[in-house]
Amino acid sequence: MVAIIVLLTSATAQKKINPGEVWPDDKGNHIQAHGGGIVKIDKYYYWYGEQRRQGLDTGLRYVSCYRSKDLASWQFMGDALQLSDPEHLGSNWVLERPKVYFNRKTKTYVMYFHLDDARYKLARVGVATSNKPEGPFTYRESFRPLEKESRDIGQFIDDDGTAYLVFESWPTKGFFIARLSDDYLKVEKEVCLINAPLEGGAIVHYKGLYYAIGSALTGWNPNPNKYATAKSLEGPWSEFKDIAPPETNTYSSQSTMMLKVEGTKDTTVIFMADQWKPKTQWDSRYLWMPLQTGDGKLWLPEPKPWSIDIKTGKVQF
Ligand code: DGJ
Repeated sequence: MVAIIVLLTSATAQKKINPGEVWPDDKGNHIQAHGGGIVKIDKYYYWYGEQRRQGLDTGLRYVSCYRSKDLASWQFMGDALQLSDPEHLGSNWVLERPKVYFNRKTKTYVMYFHLDDARYKLARVGVATSNKPEGPFTYRESFRPLEKESRDIGQFIDDDGTAYLVFESWPTKGFFIARLSDDYLKVEKEVCLINAPLEGGAIVHYKGLYYAIGSALTGWNPNPNKYATAKSLEGPWSEFKDIAPPETNTYSSQSTMMLKVEGTKDTTVIFMADQWKPKTQWDSRYLWMPLQTGDGKLWLPEPKPWSIDIKTGKVQF
C-alpha cells in the first residue's frame, strides 16, 4: 500500500509545462530566455536566452541564465551577459540566439551569439566567456565562422561530447554544421552544409539517426518548420518534410533547439520553440513539446500541458 502511494505521488508530482502560456520563474516573472538554448552540466540544466524584460537600458543587450533540475521549475540566475555595442554597430544593434557550451578541459563557459547591425549585414558570431555558469560573461571577439556570413545560430553536442555550431548562412541559403575547436573558442571545421533556405536550425541525434529542424525565412512570423534526417552529420540529408500540419505554422512557433532527455526508461526529444511577439517581445512565449520521433520520422503533436520525469525520461499528459 505504502509503495503504491509513493508511486502515485511520484507519478503525479511532476510540474507541468504549459506550451504558449506565461512561464513564471522562481520569482514569479515570465521567463526571459528567448531564442535560447539549454546545456546540462552535472545535475542542473542551464537555460540561456535573450533577456527582453521591460525597462532595460536600450543601449545594452542582455543574455539571461536560468537553472533547473526538472526542466519545469526555473530559478533566475541573473543576466549572465550585459553588453554595450561591442563593434560600434549603432542603434538597434542585434544580439540574438545565445548558446553556451561548457568546456570541461578549460573549465570555461563559452557563449556564442548572433551579433549584427540593425540591417543584419554584419552577420557574425560574438563570443564571450566566464568561469561560472551564471556569469558574468566577458566579451572576447566577433567573427564570421569559416569566413562565412552567419545569422541564426544553433547548438549541437553529440553523444560523444563533440561540440558543433549550427549557423545559417547567405548567400548559400542553408545552414552549416561546424565543429568547434578543442577549447570551443573557434569554429574550426565545416562538417556539412545543409543546402536548404532555413533558419532557427536545431539538431538531435536519436537512435542512430541525426534529425535537423529549421524554419523558413519569414522574419518574426511563424511558418511551417521542417525536418530532414541523415545517418551521419556529414550527410547526405533527406528531403525536408513538415513537422506539424503546415496550416498551423508550427502552432505559431519557430524552432530554437531540440533537447534530448535520456532517462532510465525512455529517451525523450523536446522541441523548444519561440512564439514571438515582435511588438511586445518581453511577452513572447515558449512552445516546448515532446516530439514523436523514431524510424526516420519526426512529428510535433498538438500542444497541450505535459510533464517529464527527468530520471525515467517518461512524459505524461
Ligand atoms: C528570424 C530569426 O530566426 C530571429 O532570430 C530574428 O533574427 C528574426 N528573424 C528577425 O526578424
